[in-house]
Amino acid sequence: MSENFAYPVGLRLSGRRVVVLGAGQVAQRRLPALIAAGADILLISPSATASVEAMAEAGEVRWERRRYQEGDFEGAWYVLITTDDPEANAAASAEAEARRVWCVRSDDAEAASAWTPATGRSEGVTVAVLTGQDPRRSAAVRDAVVEGLRDGTLAAPRHRTRGPHVALVGGGPGDPDLITVRGRRLLAEADVVVADRLGPRDLLDELPPHVEVIDAAKIPYGRFMAQEAINNALIEHAKAGKSVVRLKGGDPFVFGRGMEEAEALAEAGIPCTVVPGISSSISVPGAAGIPVTHRGVAHEFTVVSGHVAPDDPSSLVDWAALARLRGTLVLLMAVEKIGAIAATLVAHGRAADTPVAVVQEGTTPAQRRVDATLATVGEKAAAEGVRPPAVVVIGEVVALSSRDHR
Ligand SMILES: C[S@@+](CC[C@H](N)C(=O)[O-])C[C@H]1O[C@@H](n2cnc3c(N)ncnc32)[C@H](O)[C@@H]1O
Repeated sequence: MSENFAYPVGLRLSGRRVVVLGAGQVAQRRLPALIAAGADILLISPSATASVEAMAEAGEVRWERRRYQEGDFEGAWYVLITTDDPEANAAASAEAEARRVWCVRSDDAEAASAWTPATGRSEGVTVAVLTGQDPRRSAAVRDAVVEGLRDGTLAAPRHRTRGPHVALVGGGPGDPDLITVRGRRLLAEADVVVADRLGPRDLLDELPPHVEVIDAAKIPYGRFMAQEAINNALIEHAKAGKSVVRLKGGDPFVFGRGMEEAEALAEAGIPCTVVPGISSSISVPGAAGIPVTHRGVAHEFTVVSGHVAPDDPSSLVDWAALARLRGTLVLLMAVEKIGAIAATLVAHGRAADTPVAVVQEGTTPAQRRVDATLATVGEKAAAEGVRPPAVVVIGEVVALSSRDHR
């Protein structure tokens, strides 16, 4: 048995007295976890940092403004000694030992009967790391494990089944680094992934071989509408007990039909989690150097679908109203109709020389940007062979970065 080997344990401190001596930086760091555990905290210190004072004012700890006195550990289950007075610390330590109360000392680990591990949490898992006398290493190991659990690089599948479940995950605009940490983790835990053409396709290559990847565009849909077929695929796989991820480009709720899928799942009684994603409407202009707002230039940006021609009776867009706005217009799904859309905006009063940029396959290695004006964008996009997916940005913000692109 080694002096440096500690027996790890999880203390359930709810309603139990914990005494903290000292209210400096160490106490400030430790108190939140004790508060979260529901401990009945008695803080003894003549002074405190502003943050600790705030905890006392909020009623999260009971603070007695004085020094340690013999007898302070009466009724305590656990004590933390964090003052910089070695004599008081030694006396307090001796009292803890005599009372058989586990005692942590920030000034002298050797003299302590308990050590605080480096801790972190991810999705209901608590990670606690002890390395004997090397707290930095403990913190580094903790960080590596928590990060790995969060982003899915440390595979730790759940074995207690959660029942049927689908996650609608926004994958971001295409660069595999632009998915959220939660999205990436859920992807790493999936048995079945139903993916769109857009979004981070590269992430699919990293999935382990047992994961079934279904291309949403290729689901046979016979008499059904394509969307209905996708909904059915999600429902069937979830009912078969699989952990299902529906991976979508950008954000699931920005022209992504995410709500239709969420509704279909709700109707089938299948719980669904929605994980937001970075929408191409903001990130693709940004990747091409265009801010959608800029102080003194644009105080608004409006995201519009351009998949229906402006004169189509089924259009829900008030193009005349949009033409009157001064700010930035961001058009998605507009490559085919860009000429007609630009002409309509000009006809309703937006200046013909308003700068326009078309950014194709943004955030991927194939990203390209074509610059024009409202007067020229229809012809120029066609002449340059611009293809979907592309985001069209209209407004003075385009000129902020267009010098190198015209
Ligand atoms: C059906 S919408 C889905 C939008 C997605 N939910 C989002 O938030 O980005 C598809 C359109 O998004 C735009 N788009 C998505 N990814 C893109 C990318 N990497 N580069 C340029 N445009 C993109 C294009 O306008 C494309 O036609």
